[in-house]
Amino acid sequence: MRTFTTKTELQQYLAETRTNGKTIGLVPTMGALHEGHISLIQQAQQYCDVVVCSIFVNPTQFNDPTDLEKYPRPIQSDIEKLEKINCDVLFNPPVTEVYAGNEQWHLNIGELESLLEGKSRPGHYQGVTQVVCKLFDLIKPDIAFFGQKDYQQFLVISQMVKLLNLPVRLIMCPIQREPDGLAMSSRNIHLTATDRQHALVLSKTLNWVKENFDSQKLPELKKSAEAVINNVPDVELDYFEIANGNNLHPADQTTNNVIALVAAKVGKTRLIDNVVIRD
Ligand code: PAF
Repeated sequence: MRTFTTKTELQQYLAETRTNGKTIGLVPTMGALHEGHISLIQQAQQYCDVVVCSIFVNPTQFNDPTDLEKYPRPIQSDIEKLEKINCDVLFNPPVTEVYAGNEQWHLNIGELESLLEGKSRPGHYQGVTQVVCKLFDLIKPDIAFFGQKDYQQFLVISQMVKLLNLPVRLIMCPIQREPDGLAMSSRNIHLTATDRQHALVLSKTLNWVKENFDSQKLPELKKSAEAVINNVPDVELDYFEIANGNNLHPADQTTNNVIALVAAKVGKTRLIDNVVIRD
């Protein structure tokens, strides 16, 4: 695997790759790689000749400084994992290589960035679009791969690509889960053994809502889901929404594309999860 920490060296390498007619796939990550990331890279390997994984804990998408500080950064084990699956390129820049000082610009991609996650984490999606825009500009991937766990992030980035006419195709890959249903996340390592048990209520409730979608009224379904989650000790529900999968507005029984999304603090760790109900 080739590892680059500077833009110039990465660009030189990718320019040669392109001259040789090879397609480039990008899997942007913040590291602390788990099976979810690995599946994105494997998917990218199916579609593209050269796969670039970026590991960059992007400071501008954290609205909570403690969250940024606590974010896991096990770079050595990440490198081993990437080497094991034959990832071609790792881009692992320092903050100064990505941001020229205190950059104040952001993209306004509309209401999607202020709903649900955007409402709970103001500025989060401005930070995400800022860094993903920079990565797309630098790497110019043919295809970029993102996980469904961050469903809203995928919609936000799709909107950015559409508004700016960026020449990149986006592919969303399914959520990878632990055998008991917990969605894989870099933040799971912060869960205590008890938190870990409590956290299962999220995926269980999402599945329960999916199973009962056709037989119950939506407001009641949502209320029951909220009550079940609120009943678990040390779980603080942020939102549970049954939404239109295109715009994240609340769904009704006639909506074609329906997704249930949840965010909750389990112990001290904030988790998100979702399940597609109707595609
Ligand atoms: O999903 C993530 O890990 C991050 O939000 C991303 C897309 C790598 C941007 O920093």
